[in-house]
Amino acid sequence: MITFSSPADMRAWAEQQRCAGKTIGFVPTMGALHSGHVALIADAARRADVVVVSIFVNPLQFNESTDFDSYPRPIDDDVAACSGAGVAAVFAPTAGAMYPPGFQTRVLPGPLGEVMEGPNRPGHFEGVATIVAKLLGAVRPHVAIFGQKDFQQLRIITQMATDLELGVEIIGHPIVRDPDGVAQSSRNVRLSAAERRAAIAVPHSLNAAVLAAKDTDDVEVIVSAALAVVIGEPLAKHEYTTVFDATTLEAIVTLTQAQRSFGKVRIGTAVWFGDVRLIDNRDLFPA
Ligand code: PAJ
Repeated sequence: MITFSSPADMRAWAEQQRCAGKTIGFVPTMGALHSGHVALIADAARRADVVVVSIFVNPLQFNESTDFDSYPRPIDDDVAACSGAGVAAVFAPTAGAMYPPGFQTRVLPGPLGEVMEGPNRPGHFEGVATIVAKLLGAVRPHVAIFGQKDFQQLRIITQMATDLELGVEIIGHPIVRDPDGVAQSSRNVRLSAAERRAAIAVPHSLNAAVLAAKDTDDVEVIVSAALAVVIGEPLAKHEYTTVFDATTLEAIVTLTQAQRSFGKVRIGTAVWFGDVRLIDNRDLFPA
């Protein structure tokens, strides 16, 4: 496995691979790799000849400097995990290499960035779209894998790749969960033992909504069922729960039969435990 820190070196290697007729699969990450990331890497390996993983904690997408500062950075473990997963190249640039003096261009998502997480995290998706555009420019992959865990991010990147003719196929990978149902996240390590136990309220709340949706089309009733679970957990502080269209991400107020049938309705939530913000989502009408 080879590691690059400069975008130019990364691109030169990618060019060699392409000239040798190899397809490149790409998994962008911020490191602190867990088995969710490893599942994305395995997915990329099934779809391409060589896999590149980027590890870069992107300052442009953080709203709170404390969240950026406290983001875990176990770089040696991450490199070992990539090597163990059969990754061909790791791209781990410095902030100075990605945002040198004079850097000024931003990618601004459209309406997809203005709903759900958007209002609560000003500039976040602009930071994500900008860094992903840069990473795609350095790695030049044929296919890139993103987790459904960050469903809005996945939609925004898919739209960006189409709108900007980036020539890369974007794949959404299902959410990887711990045995108790909590979605894996690099931020989970920052939960205390009690908070980690309490975090089970997040998937439980979504499950309660799925059950409620069997009996009613009224989204308020469905969201209330989810809320009741979160409110019942003293360590949890609820931020939002929303039922949304999986393509437009627009909030749904009343469900139609068509929405029930075509599996395009999801429910998403953000919940705080102490100073850790967890997000989760799932199909409201699982097959
Ligand atoms: P990060 O949070 O490290 O996540 C990297 C990728 O792993 C994302 O596509 C994310 O959705 C996916 N992922 C994380 N946890 C997952 C889980 N439990 N199941 C499935 N997939 C999961 O998302 C980012 O980094 C950044 O915003 C990035 C795209 C790298 C841009 O900086």
